[in-house]
Amino acid sequence: MSVRLRDLPLDERPAALGLSAEQASILRAGLSPEQANHMIENVIGVFGLPLGVAQHFIVNGKPIPAVPMAIEEASVVAACSYAARLAAASGGFRAGSSEPIMIGQVQLLGVPDLVQAQAQIGAATEALLCWLNEENPTTRSRHARAVGIETRVLESQPPMFVVHVLYDCGDAMGANLVNTACEALAPELERLSGGRANLRILSNLSDRRLAWASCTIRTELLAAREDNTIPPAEIARRIVEASRFAEVDPYRAATHNKGIMNGVDAVVIATGNDWRAVEAAAHAYAARNGRYTALATWREDAEGNLVGYIELPLAVGIVGGATRVHPTAQIALRLLGVRTARELAEVIACVGLAQNFAAIRALAMEGIQRGHMALHARQVAIAAGATGEAVERIAAQLVAERNIRLERARALLNGEA
Ligand code: MEV
Repeated sequence: MSVRLRDLPLDERPAALGLSAEQASILRAGLSPEQANHMIENVIGVFGLPLGVAQHFIVNGKPIPAVPMAIEEASVVAACSYAARLAAASGGFRAGSSEPIMIGQVQLLGVPDLVQAQAQIGAATEALLCWLNEENPTTRSRHARAVGIETRVLESQPPMFVVHVLYDCGDAMGANLVNTACEALAPELERLSGGRANLRILSNLSDRRLAWASCTIRTELLAAREDNTIPPAEIARRIVEASRFAEVDPYRAATHNKGIMNGVDAVVIATGNDWRAVEAAAHAYAARNGRYTALATWREDAEGNLVGYIELPLAVGIVGGATRVHPTAQIALRLLGVRTARELAEVIACVGLAQNFAAIRALAMEGIQRGHMALHARQVAIAAGATGEAVERIAAQLVAERNIRLERARALLNGEA
């Protein structure tokens, strides 16, 4: 049985998760300004985010005691843990992923004969791959391999010729290598096509690097709240209705997917990965059929249990980039215990599905404001100057009075009735 972290004082939680005293002090210190100074330009400090852990996740039969999440939004970590606990009662999440293939694009303009260019590049593909993988020092890598070259003709006036360079990025996110490969290959592609290379850059629509996850939530567990009066089958029906809403309406889908990304981004950030890339890919993938739709869906199975499914691109790595230099990211990866980038992507897909379930369940039942208000009240109490046990006491009073305002928190803190 996993420890209930929230029952432990803050400084005892790392040890309860098996982290050493040294790792605990790294978590407290985070990224130093000196380390940050090597990462970007004009550094003046370090911006902190709360790092929490979601519990109760079981992915492909393997329990993950702590899923690290860096996020400023209240209730996301608790919601994920709650959903994971319900899914665990049916064995947890089943997850999978494609090969970690990234796409690099070379845009070629003024190609005199498109058909001939396609034929020339097609005939040279093996040689080009061999050059990238074996001969050219800037594109040879222990972690990644060029695995394909494809050509596309885009409708435009005049038609545009684009070459896709496919890389199996292994355990790296791969952006640097793919960009290098596009730039390295461009002169030869110009020669073969007779065109002029313009852009040479990775595509963030990483639709060959997908992860998916599913889970079953037993219907009777949906009602497990002391103050709930809605029958479980009714809750399940409302969740399916919420899913169908997002599936057919882009306005709702954007919010549905935002909830998913609350979970996804939090793990992506905690592990030092590029969350803008993951965001761009997820939303482009959600619109892949010409209409923006839900990344996760829910249905009832023959027994009336809820079955959820999510599929999205997840270009994340466990080597290179900030995953290597950010001290907290190292500990986050250690907590997750993932051995490959694909395993990391699979866990993240599960977190996205869990977060989506918790959000639409709350929306279909009491609405999300009640839970949000309790946490908002804590922030107001802290803003009013409350510390220690006074935070919870004043927050509880604000909620009871349904008056979550700074002036009231200050008054309570000053002992006013
Ligand atoms: C809020 O950050 C996320 C939700 O709006 C997601 C949703 O509506 O599904 C609650």
